Amino acid sequence: MNLSDMTDASYSRTDIYIDGSKDKPKYMFVVLGDKVESCIVNNNNPSLLDVGGAAGAFTYYMSLRFAGLKLTCLDADKSLIEKANKQISNVRFVHGDANNMVGLGTSEFDIVTMTGTMSIFDDFRPSLGECIRVCKNKGRVLVTGQFNEYPVDALIKWRYSGDTDKYNPGYNLFSRKSVSEYLNGLERVKEWKFEKFILPFDLKK
Ligand SMILES: C[S@@+](CC[C@H](N)C(=O)[O-])C[C@H]1O[C@@H](n2cnc3c(N)ncnc32)[C@H](O)[C@@H]1O
Repeated sequence: MNLSDMTDASYSRTDIYIDGSKDKPKYMFVVLGDKVESCIVNNNNPSLLDVGGAAGAFTYYMSLRFAGLKLTCLDADKSLIEKANKQISNVRFVHGDANNMVGLGTSEFDIVTMTGTMSIFDDFRPSLGECIRVCKNKGRVLVTGQFNEYPVDALIKWRYSGDTDKYNPGYNLFSRKSVSEYLNGLERVKEWKFEKFILPFDLKK
């Protein structure tokens, strides 16, 4: 299947991420950076893949914070990847699909991050499964998103009021129960946990 044929690939936030400032990291990036730090403390040659990494803002921040970290960023939006390639050095940019990471090897990375991306997909398993596949045996997969505390999965589509265009994805809500059952069934996953994350400030609209 071609990248442009995928339903989920029709998700496009190019305008937001193409100009997104990489000089002021999101609070979430800083929190993730602290976790990455604890994961790589005894590793001489660590590697990290960021899935759905847009124009590379997180990997750019990682490159400033951890000099020896080998960085790869994958996104389905070609214009974001092309822009990032021109502007950011020390990061390998891959135009690809989170649900089928062709060209990325099994057990290739020490750390795999996926931030705010899983909720785009109508099925969380392919992208999560791929993150787990490309992660080393003793590696870590760090996924951020919203997860329903109740045992209910919800697929949410939206459009601006008045628009006659198709509805967009982006806010699907998977339950902790479904994700837990999936992870429990994977031999490759030795342990996992959910951690609560609360922004300590309000976001601008
Ligand atoms: C909400 S943005 C999050 C960007 C970044 N991770 C962040 O936290 O700032 C979701 C990103 O996922 C990308 N995306 C959408 N579908 C994808 C797919 N099938 N494979 C890889 N990336 C995808 C979008 O292009 C977009 O850059």
